[in-house]
Amino acid sequence: MSSTPNVVRLTRRYRFAASHRLDTAALSPEENRKLYGKCNNPYGHGHDYVLDVILEGQPDGNGQLVDRRAVDELVSGQVLARLDHRNLNVDLPEFAGVIPTTENLAFLIRDALASQWTLPARLAAVRISETARNIFELETDK
Ligand code: NI
Repeated sequence: MSSTPNVVRLTRRYRFAASHRLDTAALSPEENRKLYGKCNNPYGHGHDYVLDVILEGQPDGNGQLVDRRAVDELVSGQVLARLDHRNLNVDLPEFAGVIPTTENLAFLIRDALASQWTLPARLAAVRISETARNIFELETDK
């Protein structure tokens, strides 16, 4: 056996649907259209987000990094129940005054998970796919 620690990563994948509109009061309507494109359409639009929660650590004596059900419970309660089928511009107190870009959504999800994290593995990163071409990843120190 190697003397380096046997650290593994587990990615647990979830899905949720939500709507948003990207618009900032700091810019004119024309500048907003230019900056955010279709995501600035006046009445919003939806995305089918894919959320990957990435855990890291050493497996326990039973050969498992973490109890998957405990991860699912945390993600369901802290993230999915609050985001699924919501309007990100109006339904989330944490997003008051924040532009609901997926960058900002990644920070919100990290904070929501990290604040309640009691699992034996590290929360290494969260990754959110907004579309097939827009995928955001945020490393954490939790
Ligand atoms: Ni959008």
